[in-house]
Amino acid sequence: MSIILKRSLRTPGLLKVCYSSSSQSGDATAKTIPKNLVEDKQTAVLQKENGVIFDKRPFKIHLDKDKTYSWCLCGKSKSQPICDGTHKNEFLKIKLRPIRFKVEKSGDYWLCNCKQTSHRPFCDGTHKQPEIQAAVK
Ligand code: FES
Repeated sequence: MSIILKRSLRTPGLLKVCYSSSSQSGDATAKTIPKNLVEDKQTAVLQKENGVIFDKRPFKIHLDKDKTYSWCLCGKSKSQPICDGTHKNEFLKIKLRPIRFKVEKSGDYWLCNCKQTSHRPFCDGTHKQPEIQAAVK
């Protein structure tokens, strides 16, 4: 049984998404998309624009439930997928701000690295779209 399936059994309230294609990036055929516990406590989530595509695959990272993280939305951080403050460089004229997030349980999570997800900061499979796969060689 996969780790992802175990996680969904422990947290039955999470949204379940099924993917039809096989894995290119460690994705399973069925995944749950975690919830950002601080999503309603910030205005950054209201930004309609997405950042530049950094990679065509998500990034697996271990997250602690007691920490608040900042996910890079602009796609310019050198510490992907976490924000390193690059968006503050006035010469780059970046208007996008990072998404602060917190997870319910400590564990491994797939964070979006294509910056096009609809479930920021978590990968929702959007990176499988042909235009995203073609954007990064
Ligand atoms: S990396 Fe999967 S949706 Fe962005």
